[in-house]
Formats: sequence, structure tokens, C-alpha cells
Amino acid sequence: MNAPNATQLKELVRYATLAPSSHNTQCWRFHLEERAITILPDLSRRCPVVDPDNHHLYVSLGCAAENLLQAAKAHGLSGQMIFDAAGDGAVRITLAPAQAEVTPLFKAISHRQCTRAEYDGQPLKPEELDLLTAMGTGAGVRVVMLTQPAEIERVLDYVIRGNTAQINNSAFVKELKLWIRFNDSEARRKGDGIWSRTSGNPSIPRWLGNVLLPLILRSQPENEKCARQLRSSAGVAIFVSDDDDKTHWVEVGRCYERFALQATALGICNAFLNQPMESIQVFGRSNQFCRGCPQTFSKAGLK
Ligand SMILES: Cc1cc2nc3c(=O)[nH]c(=O)nc-3n(C[C@H](O)[C@H](O)[C@H](O)COP(=O)(O)O)c2cc1C
Repeated sequence: MNAPNATQLKELVRYATLAPSSHNTQCWRFHLEERAITILPDLSRRCPVVDPDNHHLYVSLGCAAENLLQAAKAHGLSGQMIFDAAGDGAVRITLAPAQAEVTPLFKAISHRQCTRAEYDGQPLKPEELDLLTAMGTGAGVRVVMLTQPAEIERVLDYVIRGNTAQINNSAFVKELKLWIRFNDSEARRKGDGIWSRTSGNPSIPRWLGNVLLPLILRSQPENEKCARQLRSSAGVAIFVSDDDDKTHWVEVGRCYERFALQATALGICNAFLNQPMESIQVFGRSNQFCRGCPQTFSKAGLK
């Protein structure tokens, strides 16, 4: 049995790094062996304010692992994933030769993106909801799909409360600034973070961005924007785990990533609205909002 060569392993890592990560921190490191790749957390990229217990960081590792497993299959390798929770935790994927299978999920990896915008308000078909539910389900993780306007309004209430708490928290704004890439040259140089141009803003020097952000970021207009985005979506998917630990956070990431790749394959956009989960200090570990990621989703036709 031939082991994958270094070029193949690096290609799998490239696909893994196309995964989403909270604030686009790309909070992962990769250790390559002859027949295995280990994904390790890069704790120097953690966000202590928005993610004090690192659960988003481990969800992001799970997203990267799912991409890597889908890419391995497409490259004629079967991957087995084990999460070792000892210490900071490590996602180890062993690779063995197998029949190559190019799945719709693999094909979607380079097209997937978070689309935080107003949607077209169209409902999804029952078979699309079923497929997304199946993809978003895993070991000790399920996805709750809310499609009724009254359910969406309830979620909106939590999002608005979380959003207001965050925007009025100067530590949140300070941390956000660190990860915003205010101009093209810093976006290119750093290769991470949230590029402000993707939300329709002009490229400006960092000193100006630092001054303007606290003046522009106001809870009322942001809440109104969230309300328009949520109310125009086909629904909200909430990823819920049986337990609140690293193993389950990684599994939530894998489930979300399959959901997002499947959505992309169907031409359905989605974006995170995690403010209630990030404002744990406001809500406590609520039963109504269990651990996981609230997502809005809708058919591709954006307004
Ligand atoms: C665990 C996790 C939490 C996230 N939370 C939010 C969020 O609350 N709001 C938001 O707009 N985007 C959120 N994102 C999306 C990231 O900002 C996004 O994935 C990143 O900027 C890369 O962009 P892309 O997914 O379009 O490639 C989250 C992503 C992950 C993986």
C-alpha cells in the first residue's frame, strides 16, 4: 500500500484551510506524517472576549477536519478521525488508500462561503430541509431546524440581546478591531481575519479604521440589519450537542461544515448569527440556546 506523498498531504491541508473559522482566525496548525495528518489548535489565535472557553476555536477545527476528510476521499484516500482530548486536544486523521470518490460536498469546498445578507425570503423544499438535517447530524450532535416565523422571531430576540451586549462591550470592539483587515494590503499580508471590503466597506488605513469602527458600530442599526437578515431567511438551524466539551465542539464543527457544503451544493446561502452563544455571560448556559451555532439559511437569490 502506497502512502500519500508530501504534495498530496499538502493539498489536503489546503482544502482544510478553506474551512470557516470564528473571526477567520484560522486557529489551526497541521502536523504531517507518512499516513496521517494531525490538526492542532493554535491557541495564539484564540479570541478570549468573544470565545472565552474556546468552543468556537474547536468548532473551527472540526470544520477543517471535515473538509480534509472530504478531500481525502476525492484523492483516493480513506480518512479515519480520532479526537484526542488530552491536553489542548488534537484531531488526528489517519489515511489509507481507497477508491477515489468525488462527492458533491467535496466539489462545494472551494465555493462555500458565509453570506451574511438579506435573503430572498423563499422557503426551502422539504427534501432540501431533510438533506440539510441529515448532513448536520453526527455523534452526539443534532440540528434543530426552525422555519416558522414565530420561532425565527424568538431567535431574533436572543440575537438582538446578544448583539446589543457585544457592541456595548468595549473589550469586544477592541478584539474585533484586531481581526478586521481594514485595507487590501493588510488583508493580503496577513491572509486571515475579516476583510472589511467583503461587507461593502472601502479600503482605509488601519489608524482610520481604529478611529471609525467604534463610531460606526452601533447596536440599533446592527440589530435592524440582523432583523432584516433573519426575517428574510428560510429558517434558522441550531446545532445542539449532548455535552459541552472539546470532543462535542469538534463534532459540531464537522456537522456544520457538512451542512454548509450541502447547502452550497444546493445553491443555498447561510451565515452564522452566534451573538447569543458568544454572550454567555448575559444568558448563562441556557437550555433554550444549547451549545452550538445558530445559522440562518436561504435559497441563493439574494436581494
Ligand atoms: C465557530 C464559528 C463561529 C462564527 N461566528 C460568526 C458570527 O457570530 N457572525 C458572523 O458573521 N460570522 C461568524 N463566523 C463566520 C466567520 O467569520 C467566517 O467563517 C470567516 O470570516 C471566513 O469566511 P468564509 O466562511 O466566508 O470563508 C463564524 C465561523 C465559525 C467557524
